[in-house]
Amino acid sequence: MLVSLDYSKSHDKDGHTKKDELKYLNPKVWEQLKMKILILGSTGMLGSECKRVLSQEHEVIAPNKNELDIISWDGVIEKLQEVSPDVVLNCAGFTDVDACEKEDFAVRKINVEGPRNLAQCSARVQCKLIHISTDYVFDGQKMMPQPYFEDDTPSPLSAYGKSKMESEIAVRENSPNYIIIRTGWLYGVNGKNFVKSIVTQGLKKKSKALRVANDQFGSPTWTYRLALQIKELLEKGGVGTYHTTAEGYCSRFEYAKYILSELGINASIEPCSIKDFKKSAKRPTNCLLENRLLKKEGISVMRDWKKDLDTFLKEFGEKLIKEARVKKH
Ligand SMILES: NC(=O)c1ccc[n+]([C@@H]2O[C@H](COP(=O)([O-])OP(=O)(O)OC[C@H]3O[C@@H](n4cnc5c(N)ncnc54)[C@H](OP(=O)(O)O)[C@@H]3O)[C@@H](O)[C@H]2O)c1
Repeated sequence: MLVSLDYSKSHDKDGHTKKDELKYLNPKVWEQLKMKILILGSTGMLGSECKRVLSQEHEVIAPNKNELDIISWDGVIEKLQEVSPDVVLNCAGFTDVDACEKEDFAVRKINVEGPRNLAQCSARVQCKLIHISTDYVFDGQKMMPQPYFEDDTPSPLSAYGKSKMESEIAVRENSPNYIIIRTGWLYGVNGKNFVKSIVTQGLKKKSKALRVANDQFGSPTWTYRLALQIKELLEKGGVGTYHTTAEGYCSRFEYAKYILSELGINASIEPCSIKDFKKSAKRPTNCLLENRLLKKEGISVMRDWKKDLDTFLKEFGEKLIKEARVKKH
């Protein structure tokens, strides 16, 4: 069971953590440390993992999109006044990067106006807002392997990246107590992602080799690890804009090759260029983010991308293969 996995804690010889001690020795203090967290986008890839991880130690309220649509200011303020949370965590978004190029109105509503509503309403009820942003706010033109830092100037190439850059501005302008988390290359057990797509494509018997870009670089980041980092940021009182991706980096091609070889999927794969794919949205080639602020503040729990991917594939590899086989039929 994944619930037992938590690398952020140090255990004594009986397997107890300092937090466990506090929970049992001083339940009153423990209760005071517990936060009430309202999560938006909790049916998505990251939101579902945050809901699972954060609810282990905090009170989590996680309405779905029908119960709370972030584009409705009235709906948001009503919910925040009713729940009176300590923290609002926004994992909601319009995340289909190519579809964003054609869906201008919906993208603005969900990715910019939604976060602005959350920021204004959080300010009114005096709670903290955590908002998730992306490596796609940068143009990726820095020479490899130079990473982007928190204070580098955004210059997005796509409608998605532009909307996320504007979401950041809306949050900074309207909430006095915010955390913005820029992350990238997310994978997890729920939702669509690159790992699942490579497993599905690798299992298809194709006459042609699977072609994957060898000139886009990033840090594959496990949603479970990111959820742990969000919890740490909350509990340690983080404030501001944080880059939060796994340590180390690879190309998309290396990433795909590693997934196939670790799962023993014998598929033919060859490198190509990102330019070979006729996608609607332009993507940055250098997606490296340096977690400078997390490290400076001594609160990083992020790990090497291969170590986390190994653990993920050991835990969920068989499940992903089974799901991919069902999809094929
Ligand atoms: N995936 C990545 O690699 C990646 C990389 C960098 C940053 N991010 C950012 O991380 C965040 C989470 O991404 P993800 O991949 O977990 O996204 P996801 O799987 O696409 O989930 C998005 C969630 O937002 C909800 N949602 C959409 N419109 C909404 C609205 N108007 N009101 C309330 N909820 C709404 C969706 O609900 P329904 O399912 O009901 O539509 C879903 O639960 C996003 O802000 C994204 O920009 C993602």
